[in-house]
Amino acid sequence: MRFEIVTIFPEFFTSIFENGILRRALAEGLVSVGVHDLRAFTHDRHRTVDDRPFGGGEGMVLKPEPLAEALASLGIQPKAERLAGEKLDSGSVLCQGTTSVVPEKLPIERGALALEGNSTKQTSHQRTRVILLSAQGRPFTQAMARELAATERVVLVCGRYEGVDERINQLYCDMELSIGDYVLSGGELAAAVVVDATMRLLPGVLGNEASSEFESFGVADAEIASAEDGVPRSQHGAGGLLDYPHYTRPAEFGGLRVPETLLNGDHAGIRRWRREQQLRKTLANRPDLLEGAALSKEDHKLLEAIRLKLE
Ligand code: ADE
Repeated sequence: MRFEIVTIFPEFFTSIFENGILRRALAEGLVSVGVHDLRAFTHDRHRTVDDRPFGGGEGMVLKPEPLAEALASLGIQPKAERLAGEKLDSGSVLCQGTTSVVPEKLPIERGALALEGNSTKQTSHQRTRVILLSAQGRPFTQAMARELAATERVVLVCGRYEGVDERINQLYCDMELSIGDYVLSGGELAAAVVVDATMRLLPGVLGNEASSEFESFGVADAEIASAEDGVPRSQHGAGGLLDYPHYTRPAEFGGLRVPETLLNGDHAGIRRWRREQQLRKTLANRPDLLEGAALSKEDHKLLEAIRLKLE
């Protein structure tokens, strides 16, 4: 899978992709990222990317021409043409303004570059999603991350200033995404969030293939295979509920002891405890999720008991 990020702050992404799981995924060639400097697609002495809004008002708006050029350099045509089923220009992925996210001194650079080379193969438009990051977008969710993880190429356009000329959204973008109900200074942080949440779902990216399934917002209960080693997993794990609390050694810390149930090896007991904790946490922090969650009869009973205790 490949991400293309169009931004006026390409350096912003360097440290993000140099650490942790993202760094490993890039180094191992499980994913590749191209960061494209929007200013490379300007033609004036000042490399102007923004202008004042028509109709007046505060702030500046990202101009459409550099964005359209940046997208064209990635082989992204206006939606109308893409829908007509045209193929991408395969040779344009490594282009003007593109940088590897991995600095040259790091040994993983070669892997990342090799991947960039691989990604220049013909890609159908159906396998490409162009996304505008903005506070006005649809909320980004785990379900959306899963959808994107099944996409071959995701192009992320980072908004800045007061916004992006709406014609870019209308002409090129398949989706406008927001990472939450707050206004950021730009789409860069949001793009990093989308890349992180999506790429950790790709096969092989997490050490433990199963672990992304069992956390908050993971796949529905019915989709989760039962554990073969007999250790209770949160099969209950997600299904739209928040994850249960986790503990590791020492068994006592800061005057608090790990719940006895987790120490005694009673797998069925552990499973029940974890499910109850999920319900508790979801009720306390995200009661809205309970409406969409797949809850068993036993869950409903547990919830009732939890609610009664709270009264
Ligand atoms: N740009 C500014 N605010 C944003 C948000 N909440 N999500 C995505 N992009 C943004």
